[in-house]
Amino acid sequence: MITAQELVGAASEKRRNDATKEDSQTKEGWHGRIVEDNAPVLRIGPLTLKTPLLLAPIAGHCDLPFRLLCREQGGVGLASTDLLNSRAILNGSAKTLELAATCPADDPCGMQLYGNGDDPLPQAACWAVDHGARLIDINMGCPVDKVAKKHGGSLLLRDCSATTLLAERIVKAVERHSGGRVPVTAKMRLGWDPEHFVAPRLARDLESIGIQAVTVHGRWTIQFFSGHADWARIGEVVSAVRGIPVIGNGDITEPMHVLSMLRQTGCQGVMIGRAALRTPWIFRHAWELLQMPKPDPSLLQEPSVSDKISMIGRHLELLSAQNYSERHALHMMKLRMAWYGKTIQNGKALRESFRTAVSVREMGSALTAFAQSQAAHAAPNRALPSASTSV
Ligand SMILES: Cc1cc2nc3c(=O)[nH]c(=O)nc-3n(C[C@H](O)[C@H](O)[C@H](O)COP(=O)(O)O)c2cc1C
Repeated sequence: MITAQELVGAASEKRRNDATKEDSQTKEGWHGRIVEDNAPVLRIGPLTLKTPLLLAPIAGHCDLPFRLLCREQGGVGLASTDLLNSRAILNGSAKTLELAATCPADDPCGMQLYGNGDDPLPQAACWAVDHGARLIDINMGCPVDKVAKKHGGSLLLRDCSATTLLAERIVKAVERHSGGRVPVTAKMRLGWDPEHFVAPRLARDLESIGIQAVTVHGRWTIQFFSGHADWARIGEVVSAVRGIPVIGNGDITEPMHVLSMLRQTGCQGVMIGRAALRTPWIFRHAWELLQMPKPDPSLLQEPSVSDKISMIGRHLELLSAQNYSERHALHMMKLRMAWYGKTIQNGKALRESFRTAVSVREMGSALTAFAQSQAAHAAPNRALPSASTSV
């Protein structure tokens, strides 16, 4: 088993070799890969994260209740909103403002914006600072036609010079508006296709205009989400930047993969997306691994069915607390259950109850009934798990 310190040490060595090519000021400017109390620390400009593990934005999934749930599970260093349209923010679109909602328990919260050079991204970024963003992230990776064909996302990978100028305007606006308190970052793919591996150069150019970290999803735009993320190429981005942290992303499905990604790429942070939808406790387990040379195996055990039921009940509570419409809450919870349900043995009836439920209250009742049936089967005299919700 590799210890966190060995891991960080090895990565530091790679980084150090790269850094010797640079001036000494660069080395002093290191933000990531600092070992404190045996665990790697991730610094993004003025922001020091409690863990180097980030919840990925996943449009339609990573709303406030889900972010809070992941945070409560433990191990999350930063969570961001899903991509937000800069014009929609400034026009006060109710749907976009709902997506941008955050609260003190959702701290530190990043807000991710998308758009192109014609969009009011600097103004939207200042709005985000005023509405709770501790970090502004620019989306340079979304491959979906609606975004990438006209507005931004991966489209920004096609003209790196224009993208760097756009990012500079955002950085300057946020710097002025927040007094240097809020860092601006970028989340990109490797490039549009394998003939255009722009991420190393783009990351370096973005660093030179003040971007304080880059997240690299190791796929090409044309791949969408198929195939595999290329971690070796993420490593090339790590080697290309002078001092800012690189956050690796793509295909982390097990806590151990976090260690592998850090080791293989030399990146300083790891972002987890789809695996969190299914196993929101993955951050806690990965964090245990990062902190302890030999973590107690019980700490890495998959939660029991009753813990999972409590977690789903908690999600219902968090959803209900947001005053969403019943329709929206039902839709979100059905989505959630499609993922959570995969990890619950004998949970077919429960999944079906959620699928056909017409109210959130009905979902709460189905959960309580399932918890009772589980408890009756497992240990008739044990206290029931607290699956009841206030919905
Ligand atoms: C349905 C879906 C929606 C996504 N929405 C966003 C988004 O809003 N912003 C973003 O930067 N990335 C988005 N992504 C990409 C993820 O953040 C992440 O880069 C990708 O899923 C790879 O990480 P993973 O293998 O850990 O899931 C989305 C991915 C999926 C599957």
